[in-house]
Amino acid sequence: MPRVMIVGSTMMDLVAYADRLPEAGETVVGTSFQTGFGGKGANQAVMARLLGADVSMVCCVGSDGYGAETLQNFADRGIDTTWARRVPGASGVAPIWVEAGGQNRIIILPGANLAMDPDVAIAAMNDGPAPGVVAGQFEIPQSVTAAAFAAARRRGAVTVLNPAPAAPLEPALAAEVDWLIPNEVELAALAGTDPDDLPGDDLLRSLAERVGCRLLVTLGEAGSALVGTDGAVQRIPAPTVDAVDTTGAGDAFVGGFIWALAGGRSDTDAVGIATTVAADSVTRPGTQLSFATPEAYERLLADL
Ligand code: RIB
Repeated sequence: MPRVMIVGSTMMDLVAYADRLPEAGETVVGTSFQTGFGGKGANQAVMARLLGADVSMVCCVGSDGYGAETLQNFADRGIDTTWARRVPGASGVAPIWVEAGGQNRIIILPGANLAMDPDVAIAAMNDGPAPGVVAGQFEIPQSVTAAAFAAARRRGAVTVLNPAPAAPLEPALAAEVDWLIPNEVELAALAGTDPDDLPGDDLLRSLAERVGCRLLVTLGEAGSALVGTDGAVQRIPAPTVDAVDTTGAGDAFVGGFIWALAGGRSDTDAVGIATTVAADSVTRPGTQLSFATPEAYERLLADL
């Protein structure tokens, strides 16, 4: 299977669980707390790796303890860190609140993620075997992702952008995207619509046309919507599960999708795989901590 490369973020997740989240000016007593490795890029890299991809992570961590622990986590999981740099200062951190039912609220403090350099990202794309799929997110500067995607495409790679957290898409990056995978909130930021409105087929088709790429929107428990090459919109349901923590489910989805794409699976197969691993992840607490083992994924995906 061709290599998967992630040009993206790492964070240390500081996760507090409570039955209900505080209102402004209010203090509530939580039920538990955990720290775990996170960052949308790192989570997607880890999921693709757990599924069996050969994964390289292009990223920046800080000179603090979190930076060293993050690099060790990649090494323990067999993720290549040739192009992971340590820079002076703080690593990215993400304080996260999760309420009963699993819904989360996240603040990210990008720290070292903002020190990523386009020239390093280009060099990473040109080093070693050509990547089959390269994925990026919005937790590092868009100019870095644009430079990496352009270099990767020159080597024949497919580029996948998860535009999270929500922000406008810069034209230079839009021009280098093959697949765009937002959630409803991110879709609304890109399309200029209300995130509470369920996106209709016309809106999805026109966004895919405007950006000039394939579009796959994740819709939480409502599953996802895939815009086909002919403009037809397919709605793919998600299995009903008992959610305890939705943090990282979108990353599990993207990690599963890029693994399947790199392995030559069809678009619809890839969405089925992504949906299955994402639904499974919300049944356990944590971000990467909620992901299963390679053996469990083999069993889970045996029929897909
Ligand atoms: O998507 C979940 C991730 O968002 C968390 O791991 C947190 O670090 C933020 O990047």
